[in-house]
Amino acid sequence: MTADTQTKKTKQAGSHAKRTPKPPKLLRGFRDILPEDSIFWQHAKQTAFSTLLDYGYGEIDTPMLEQTSLFKRTIGEHTDIVSKEMFTFEDKGGDSVTMRPEFTASFARAYVEHGMFNRPQPVKLFSIGPAFRYDRPQAGRFRQFNQINFEIFGNDHPVADAEIIFLSYLICKQLGLDISIHVNSLGTPESREEYVGILKEYFKSKRRLLCEDCKKRLTKNTLRILDCKEEECNQLAQSAPQLVDHLDEESKQHFVAVLEHLDESEVPYELNPYIVRGLDYYNRTAFEIFAKIGEHTEDQSESKPIALGGGGRYDGLVELLGGRETPGVGVAIGIERIIDAIKKLGQKPTSQKKPQVFLAQLGEEATKHAFTLFETLRTAGIRTRANFAKSGLKEQLEHADKLGVLYAVILGQKELLDETVIIRDMENGIQEVVDLAKIAEELKKRLKKGI
Ligand code: HAM
Repeated sequence: MTADTQTKKTKQAGSHAKRTPKPPKLLRGFRDILPEDSIFWQHAKQTAFSTLLDYGYGEIDTPMLEQTSLFKRTIGEHTDIVSKEMFTFEDKGGDSVTMRPEFTASFARAYVEHGMFNRPQPVKLFSIGPAFRYDRPQAGRFRQFNQINFEIFGNDHPVADAEIIFLSYLICKQLGLDISIHVNSLGTPESREEYVGILKEYFKSKRRLLCEDCKKRLTKNTLRILDCKEEECNQLAQSAPQLVDHLDEESKQHFVAVLEHLDESEVPYELNPYIVRGLDYYNRTAFEIFAKIGEHTEDQSESKPIALGGGGRYDGLVELLGGRETPGVGVAIGIERIIDAIKKLGQKPTSQKKPQVFLAQLGEEATKHAFTLFETLRTAGIRTRANFAKSGLKEQLEHADKLGVLYAVILGQKELLDETVIIRDMENGIQEVVDLAKIAEELKKRLKKGI
């Protein structure tokens, strides 16, 4: 190679290095859940999972991608979710598809599509998984977030509403959270329409005092002005006419019955006429769940309640999707919000059970056999760890020490030939040679003694 070609090559390599694109980063509003955090996730998900199974809910797993029309028709064209927050795109076939912003619409679609009205009613379903909203990322608000979502289809009795509210409370309580449930009734679509007319008149006269968003809401989504977080709008909402005073008689009775059921339970609830929810499919019961934080922390800046979840009744949803008239009621609780609340309270779920044994291997042949031995120990129910990438005994024992295991099992060339293995007591360093075939049995004996 001449000096010239050498320089050329170096130059090319240099310019190539400059052109290396920036390493890919997480998208805004998306998160990685790392192993050290996963203990919180497992705790929340498993608590919900086992409670819902105990109460007769069946798990359903619907796709994350659905036809855009499903969400437009159900959640409502003028809601924030549909008008601003959906991850919608055209697929390669030219169809408009959307990453699910919530589960309820998909559950109702599945209920109709799989003819679930032919099953014994009510049909109780749940899902735990991610949803997507192109919202402005901020504390507790992500573009991919996770919900524990459960629904009852086919029961219009107030007891179904109370069951959903009670289970929301129970799951939160089991997770150590102190919550309050704010309940309201949205009446029937007809009584609500009448009320919205009255509300419009009220806000029209105060239009100039409303925030820009609420000015738009005034024509298309008047109810949402009631839960606007802007100070001025909030003030006006305080003296606005209330929906409870305009409920139809049946909705009123239904609401009273839901409250009576709640009174019989230990659910801490309060009436809140400003709970209107951000999705169009609701009628009658609507509620939101708040975690009380401040009373338990020293730092009063942490005292704002965390909105953990919300839900309600949606008796027209299944019919809207082409199904038979089927009442429904349900809730979604945000897992990120739950974990945030658990952390703010300074709680830490008890960690996974600690490993008991470390398997150390010495020499190539022993390493080859180590997989089999590891599997023997694991299937015997012994919580085992190993580091197959390390070959030195010292570093493997250091690793074992860090993990805090009670015993190390050492497999070397000599032991392999003799069909034996060494058990080392990590506390006092005493080592014993035992038969390779009896290792699981021997360890179990020792572990039992240690308890
Ligand atoms: P939602 O009020 O839109 O209701 O959402 C429920 C919960 O999901 C919220 O209270 C919050 O904890 C969590 N959540 C929503 N958006 C975000 C976000 N961007 N980042 C983090 N967490 C979020 C529904 O989704 C209805 N489908 C609930 C329902 C079920 N109604 C009847 N059945």
